[in-house]
Formats: sequence, structure tokens, C-alpha cells
Amino acid sequence: MGESRRYYVTTPIYYVNDRPHIGHAYCTVLADTMRRYRRLMGDETWFLTGTDEHGQKVQEAAERRGMSPQAHCDELHAAFRELWPQLHVEEDDFIRTTEPRHTRVVQAALQQLWEAGDITIQSYEGWYSTGAERFFTEKDLVDGRCPDTGQPVQWISEKNYFFRMSRYGERLRAHIEANPDFIRPPHRANEVLAFLDKGLDDLCISRPKERLAWGIELPFDSDYVTYVWFDALLNYVSAIGLFSDSERFERWWPHAHHLIGKDILTTHSVYWTTMLMALGLPLPRSITATGWWLQGDTKMSKSLGNVVSPLGMKDVYGADVLRFFLMRDMVIGLDANFSEEALVRRNNSDLANDLGNLARRVAGLCDRYFEGKVPEPGEPTAAEAAVMATADDLRAAVPQLVDDLKLHSAIEEIMQFVRSLNKYVTDTAPFRLVKTDAPAAGRILYTVLEGLRHAAWLLWPVMPQKMEALLVGLGVPGKPTTLDALRWGELRAGTGLGLGEALFPRAELPVAAPEAAPSPEKAAEGGSAEAEPAQAQGPAEIAFDQFEQVDLRVATVLSCQRVEGSDRLLDFQLDLGTEQRRVVSGLAQHIAPEGLAGTQVVLVANLAPRKIFKILSQGMILSCETPESGLTLLRPGAAVAAGAKVS
Ligand code: MSP
Repeated sequence: MGESRRYYVTTPIYYVNDRPHIGHAYCTVLADTMRRYRRLMGDETWFLTGTDEHGQKVQEAAERRGMSPQAHCDELHAAFRELWPQLHVEEDDFIRTTEPRHTRVVQAALQQLWEAGDITIQSYEGWYSTGAERFFTEKDLVDGRCPDTGQPVQWISEKNYFFRMSRYGERLRAHIEANPDFIRPPHRANEVLAFLDKGLDDLCISRPKERLAWGIELPFDSDYVTYVWFDALLNYVSAIGLFSDSERFERWWPHAHHLIGKDILTTHSVYWTTMLMALGLPLPRSITATGWWLQGDTKMSKSLGNVVSPLGMKDVYGADVLRFFLMRDMVIGLDANFSEEALVRRNNSDLANDLGNLARRVAGLCDRYFEGKVPEPGEPTAAEAAVMATADDLRAAVPQLVDDLKLHSAIEEIMQFVRSLNKYVTDTAPFRLVKTDAPAAGRILYTVLEGLRHAAWLLWPVMPQKMEALLVGLGVPGKPTTLDALRWGELRAGTGLGLGEALFPRAELPVAAPEAAPSPEKAAEGGSAEAEPAQAQGPAEIAFDQFEQVDLRVATVLSCQRVEGSDRLLDFQLDLGTEQRRVVSGLAQHIAPEGLAGTQVVLVANLAPRKIFKILSQGMILSCETPESGLTLLRPGAAVAAGAKVS
């Protein structure tokens, strides 16, 4: 930190024919989050996204609709452009490959390569895949079919223009070997090196217009258009002024970081890099290939028909909750499974329970005992010093983890800090202390409020709107600036607090997802973007006989221990009189397992069993929580027989 650095981040440009799904949303939210972290680190940043609008599939789709391809693109690209603000993504520029500022650059680049002898005419025969819109050699095919789409391929023989990619293979290899951070994560660099080992062919970069008219015309042969990837890849430089605004170009290009999905690694790491070499331009600083969001075991994709709409999820759970889930539950570079249940659990545990609850707890106490204002900080004791030290460590650790692409760990570290604040409140019990030593209770609450402010800054890149709302509640409205400016102790005593509203309401698990949840596609199509999030409504009224269906029982705790590998779960062995039950409960941060054996609890005994941390949990233990008393288990007033019905 300190010296002025720049960061230019790009997403792939999305095929205009697709409807945006979670896979697309992930990459763009990731770029937005990375750029916000870079801002916090003090970098000047630029963020580009856009749409890829040429090619055969677009031409065919437009023909089917009886529209011109341009009108078709004008309409469809809006699905992407209008999605991003709804996910709180703030790109600086949105490029469309049909814009003149782009087509001019593509033509100038083609002309330059043609004049330099880097494009040649060859009579070409090869296997053409309509789905992938490219030629393959015999050795590329898998069981005689297209390696990308699995569809049959056609043998085509024609005159075409070729980019002399083969010239640059060795230079590319040397660059990858000399720059271990160029292709990330490292196993993807090995994949590219293995690809280079097979030897680089030249790349066919033209399509005869008689076969495909919807593309950018070759400046030196008007019977041809250029290959869609040659066109698309150049968006990263056309958008920042290559050939038109050298100052802007020089400002950003040396700091370019491409975020892509693993399926487009070769086009970026091989085609694009060698194109840049031939154009005499430096290579981007890094190319990061992410994994895929899967549904079950398969990639979420339009052609497989298993896509989840980001707008649908956003309508039900809110954009920032979706962002948090996408950033926390995917390890950059690996695949992850998308499930609505996992999203709900993440919301309920990390956001509603840990973060939201902490804010509510301190707000309640400040309201009651400190006129709803920030209390005096007082003189820190060892306990406060420990909290401050953790906050300092975190401020240093988060940028490092983000640089290392360990975004999920960065988020987890921040959440651990939030959990430690909850524990600090439980341990120091300001709700009791306030009756005997109000300044000491004030000191504790001040410390938690400062901790919350730190968490709000550090989580702002992931959940910008929610964290800005938290800062408003803390009486310090505004966007975070740079971490250098984040200093402990800036909350002013006497500032009015406004943390009354629940920041993160709990969400209900979809009963039988995905059917039970409102269909995301429907929600998106119905334009219900402003619909009230479902979780904001209170519990619905139930009839007496519905209540009677709940089997509440007194159970005696036989044993209780922490679940290994989880910092929130307790594993109870319970006696229900006629049987024994094992129940996993998220109480570890509130209650110590020691000393519970022999006590009695109230159990929802007929709750459908659920696997939690690989343990089959059979029931739910009841508890209640208030800001004053923290969390307490519900118990019968006197010892009763195990299994006694509660009514
Ligand atoms: N138009 C090209 C990119 C050209 S960039 C010069 C393209 N478009 S795409 O719309 O098919 O894909 C865009 C990005 O979305 C790719 O990085 C792809 O990996 C990503 N995803 C598509 N489905 C995905 C998942 N299920 N999960 C995560 N990302 C995935 O390719």
C-alpha cells in the first residue's frame, strides 16, 4: 500500500444470445468485488465488461426472429447491461463488439498483421464445428466429434486467412515460465504449457461471407469476415483506446487482469497472447481462470437447460446476500455446487446469525442504556486491546489474501472476527455489567461498534449496499475510502445510532427446491425486480391443528461435544425416554458443551432428520436470545421424566 498502483480488471464479454445465469453473474460480481478491494488498497481502478455480438449463432437467432442481427443484439444485450446495477456491480465501461469504436480497432489490427506478414492465405481443409464456430484438427476431435460441444463436425475445404500463431509458441512458453503469476491458478499454467507441447498450429481467422455475414469485414478482402474470437478478444484493448487514445491505453493496459472461466483458457492464454505479441503489445499482467458453478455434477449452462437466474435469486434473497454467497462459497479456480439451500444456510449462519445479530445485540443495549448513542470508549483493558489487535491483523491480512486470490478465506477471516466480537460480548456480559459499572459496559459496546465498523469496511467490496447501510446505522455514513484511512477509535462518542432494522433477516429454506421457490426465470420475466424479499415477511399465522402437529418433548442431555471442524456446531446425545437421539445444533458460540450432561432441554422431536456436517441430526433444540441475556436454552422449570410432552 502507499505507492499509487493501477488495476484494470476485465470479465469475458458475454454471448449476447444467452440469458444471464449464475455462472455469468459470478464472474462479473467477482470482478466488481476484486476492483472494490483494490480501491480499498488504494489502487486506481478501471473495470470493463460487455457483450460479444458477432458470429453464426447470433446471425441464425436473428434470422429466426425475422430481425436484423443488429436489432437483435440491440435488444438482447440489455439483459446483461441492465442486470449489473441490480447486482450492485458498477463497471466503468460496457463494450459491445458491434460498436464502431471496437470494429475500427479490429480492422486496424487485422491490417497491421496483414502488412507485417503475420496473416497469410492458405487453402484450408479441416473439421468445422458449427456449435463452437471453429475448425479443429483431427487430433483435437474426441471420438470424431467436436471437443467443445460434443456435436458432429463437418469436413470443409476452402481458402482462408490464417494468423501465424505458430511463430510465437516459444516466446509464449518463455513468458509463462518466467512469470509464475501470469496464468492463475498455477495448475492452469501447466495446462497451457502442455497445450504448447503439442506444437502450435496457425489459426484460421476468417470466414467466407457466403457462410457467415455477421462479422467484421477483413480490411484487405471484402469477401470475408473475421473469426469471432479474433474480434472478441480485442475488446480488452479497443475499449481503452488502442489506436485512438494512446494516453488512456498506456494508462491502463500495463495493469490489465483478465478474469475468465476455465473453458476459455486456451483462447485467452494462447490465441490472445500471441495476437498481442504479433501486434507488438505487452501481455496482460494476469489471466485468472475460475471454475464453474455446477448444478448436480454438471456445468450450469443454457444448452443444458439447468441455469439459475441471478435476478430470481436476487429478488428472493437480495443482491448482497447473493454476492456474499457467490464470493464465499466458491474457491477461485475450483468448481462449486450451486444450491439454494446452501445460499439460505450461508445467509442464516454468517449474515443473520453472526453479523446481523451482533449489530442488533449492541444496538439494543445502546438504546436501552446509552440513549441510542455511541458510548464513551474509556480506557481499553486487555480484552479491548485484544480486539483491536485482531482488527489490525485483519486489515493487513485481507489485502494479502485478496492478492493471493483467496477471497473465500478473506471473507472467512472477517467473519471469524465478527464471531469473536459476539463471543467478547457473551464473555464480558455488558448487559449485566451495566447495572454495576456503566462506563465499563460502555467501553465494551464502543469496542463492538468499532469492530462492526471495521467489518463493514472490509466486507464492503462483497456487499456494498448492506455495508453502507451498516455504516449509516453506526452513524458514519459514506463509502469506505482506503484501508490506510481506517483507524481504530474514529467512532465519536455521542453519535446517534440507527441500527434498529434487521440488517440480514433470516431466510426460510426452500421446502423442496427448486420447485417450492418462486421460479427464478418467472421472477425475472415478470419484471418483479422490486418485489419485497420473501424473508422480510413475518411468520405466517397457523391453525391450532397445525401447531398440534409439532411434537415438542423434554429430553435429557446424555452427552454433548463440539463437532470437529466446525466452530458453531454442538453434537448432542439425548434421552427421550423411549429412545435416544443425536441432534446437531448451532449453539457452540453461545454455550459451552461442558456441564450440559444431565440437564434437560426442549426438543422439536418430529422435525425431518437432516444431515449436518455428515451427522444425521434428528430434531431441534429450542433456545431463545435477547441482547441482555444472550442465548439461553429453554428448559422445564423442574426436572421431569425424559420424553414428557410439551403442550
Ligand atoms: N463470448 C465468450 C467470451 C469472449 S471473451 C473475449 C464466451 N461467452 S460466454 O457467455 O459463453 O461465457 C462467458 C463466461 O461465463 C466464461 O468465462 C464462462 O466460463 C463463464 N461461465 C459460463 N457458465 C459458467 C458456469 N456455470 N460457472 C461459472 N462460469 C461459467 O465464452
